[in-house]
Amino acid sequence: MNLRIPGPTPLPAAVRRAAGAEVIDHRGRVFEDLLIRCSNRLREFYQTQSDVLVLTGSGTGGLEAALVNVLSPGDEVLAVSTGHFGERFAAIARAFGARVTQLDVPWGQAHSAGTIAKALNDNSGIRLLLTTHNETSTGVLNDLAPVAELLERLGSRRPLWLVDAVSSLGATDLPMDKWGCDVVISASQKAWMAPPGLSFLAVSERAWERIDTASCPRYYWDLREAKRYARKGQTPFTPAVSALAGLGEALELMADEGLPAIVARHRRQASQMRSGLRQLGFGLLAQGECASPTVTAALMPKGLAATDLKRRLLAEQGVVIAAGMGELKDKVIRVAHMGFCTDQDVQASLDAIEAVQRTAQTAGTVSTV
Ligand SMILES: Cc1ncc(COP(=O)(O)O)c(C=O)c1O
Repeated sequence: MNLRIPGPTPLPAAVRRAAGAEVIDHRGRVFEDLLIRCSNRLREFYQTQSDVLVLTGSGTGGLEAALVNVLSPGDEVLAVSTGHFGERFAAIARAFGARVTQLDVPWGQAHSAGTIAKALNDNSGIRLLLTTHNETSTGVLNDLAPVAELLERLGSRRPLWLVDAVSSLGATDLPMDKWGCDVVISASQKAWMAPPGLSFLAVSERAWERIDTASCPRYYWDLREAKRYARKGQTPFTPAVSALAGLGEALELMADEGLPAIVARHRRQASQMRSGLRQLGFGLLAQGECASPTVTAALMPKGLAATDLKRRLLAEQGVVIAAGMGELKDKVIRVAHMGFCTDQDVQASLDAIEAVQRTAQTAGTVSTV
């Protein structure tokens, strides 16, 4: 099977072996070494001096953990949404009592620092800024560098900046400290080539100060406890031990390849996927610079619905892709080139799509007009 959905992504054989090994004591020495090693490796990819905490929970759990720790009910929040996952980040903030101003960018486009600047100027009470680095529902990579510059210019008036990097970190350059991000969240099943079940959070000094004074209730996600335990190579509660064993192996593979090579590979495969799909008659939702290096969202050619193509690809070719989300459900397919992916995997997905288009045409499902 060729798993090409934007997470969970395929696992290298060494990762599968490690994740399938006997479970170990999470209060023992071997686990302690594993957790510390993972955290140190993650820090290299986050490009940060801060501790990177490993939590047991999916990416959404990581987003919620970030919010409940820095938020006080009634806080003004600016949530920049470029698609489904931006909406989710905003919805979590609302669920915990934030007063959210949602800046909606049309799906398929990237946010602009100018509009964010205006929204921050219009409301000087904003205490938190939420952005999505890679919007997985639309295949858009938002450029964070101009946002970093904007926030630097605001000086002491700058809000705390939370970045959803669930489907970008590990595949893209995100220098957390240089850009002054305050909490950056990612998840194991995306570019990290690891099993689902873990989320990662790195937290700036400014964010730790806010965490101490924030009044939102928290228990399972209390990052102060996670930090206290992490210092001794443990987690407060039972962690997903097997997923962590897989992650440890995956991070070694990633360290061997190196971040610059990983970033270059993702860019190369994204353009391979984009030009291949274009040749097959698809449109591309994200245009130009903002095209995601980890997932491509392609507009369906006339006559075939995305859900139909997805179903046929699995049945006829053993290739698993995703359809669109929300308003894009039947309009786009999303094909991932995220994490463990070779140029041959990309070509195989394109070949499979072409084969299904041919059979669908022969069967008269697709109109040629
Ligand atoms: C950008 C982004 N944020 C958040 C999530 C939610 O992560 P999870 O499904 O692991 O809860 C996803 C998952 O696809 C995502 O792509």
